[in-house]
Amino acid sequence: MVYACQHRYGDMFTLQIAYEGKWVMLADPEAFKQVFTGDPRVYHAGEGNQILAPVLGRNSVLVLDEKPHMSQRKLLLPPFHGTRMQGYEQTMREIAEREIDSWPTGVPHALRPRMQAMTLEIILHTVFGVGGGGSLGELREALRDFLDLTTNPRLLVPLLLVGPNRVRGIRAFRRRIDRVDGLIYREIAERRRAEDLEERDDILSMLVAARHEDGSPMSDEEIRDELLTLLVAGHETTATSLSWAVERLTRHPEKLERLREEAVGGDSDEYLTATIQETLRLRPVISIVIRRLTEPVEIGGYELPAGVSVTPSVYLIHRNPEIYPNPDAFEPERFLDNPPGTYTWIPFGGGVRRCLGAAFAQFEMAVVLRELVKRRRIRPADPRPERVFRRAITETPRHNARVVLS
Ligand code: HEM
Repeated sequence: MVYACQHRYGDMFTLQIAYEGKWVMLADPEAFKQVFTGDPRVYHAGEGNQILAPVLGRNSVLVLDEKPHMSQRKLLLPPFHGTRMQGYEQTMREIAEREIDSWPTGVPHALRPRMQAMTLEIILHTVFGVGGGGSLGELREALRDFLDLTTNPRLLVPLLLVGPNRVRGIRAFRRRIDRVDGLIYREIAERRRAEDLEERDDILSMLVAARHEDGSPMSDEEIRDELLTLLVAGHETTATSLSWAVERLTRHPEKLERLREEAVGGDSDEYLTATIQETLRLRPVISIVIRRLTEPVEIGGYELPAGVSVTPSVYLIHRNPEIYPNPDAFEPERFLDNPPGTYTWIPFGGGVRRCLGAAFAQFEMAVVLRELVKRRRIRPADPRPERVFRRAITETPRHNARVVLS
């Protein structure tokens, strides 16, 4: 649909969205730059995410704006620093090996739920660390149930109908949230008593040790909200991107083979990196980025009033033939000598709201894909490409990436 609108109206057009008001869709890198580098007091992202507040909590970095947002974001940044990633590699690899070895061979099956189990396991271990209270099993089960709320379109409907503020009044929601909360608060309490806090590199320990600018520690509620935010923001998105990578690669066996040769050779990650970048270009799991204007702003020669949302279109910029020749084709080669541009490749959004887990997600995708192509031959269950299917928030392969492994 956005394609047709762009064709008819150009790189800027307005959509009227039910319950959301006006969205001004943007498809031009100059406009993206203006939005992403604009004053955070004018371009609100948290406001657009209010629907998540009853689930993630009022301190979640996703639902805040301006100073409170920056303050939470700063506390969350250190665990996601590039150098930290290496420290997570071993855990990621061990989990990937174990999960992949448990997948069936010789029969068609959907990869996405398995990728989801794997990314949940990875983020759980990264967030809580190993040996954390021994309750990881209980937490895993409670979280699976809970995360359904954010990924299952059927459960999202009541959320939309009653509105975010009343959702806790629905018993099924409250029960799930209360159970997860109980377990998380218990972990936080135990971690506050831990004597090896300084040596631990899991995110919970880092948040317990973190200090606000005024020197005060984060409250239990703040830590709870941010942990849940990371679990929700980090698990389904990455699993879906991984599923798309496999879906696309299996429709291009020669590219899959090139990737395997590189992974087995082990002396470079060039093609792997390009494959991940190309997957995120061609099949971004989130198709727009949203900022609500608190003041009138001029963009692309138009005066936009306060209250409307501007929405840089990930989808449209990634399909622009002037930036990406042959844009519908899956060609990792296009990124081999051309790293993605800040305002032309935006699967993780941009500016002060850019995805906190962008490096983490790409690193994790690399670890998992490398292990997968090294350990298994993969072919599609059906050679026809899978269509894009819009789930609650993410865009997934229609049949959840059905493959046959051998
Ligand atoms: C392929 C996987 C992922 C994709 C495609 C993705 C995409 C996005 C996008 C589009 C945004 C909004 C950016 C904006 O408004 O400019 C975002 C925000 C965010 N993401 Fe991700 N994400 C992924 C993985 C992760 C992971 C693994 C984590 C954490 C472990 C994470 C944590 C967050 C957080 C905390 C925010 C909010 C940042 C803020 O508002 O300051 N994401 N992500």
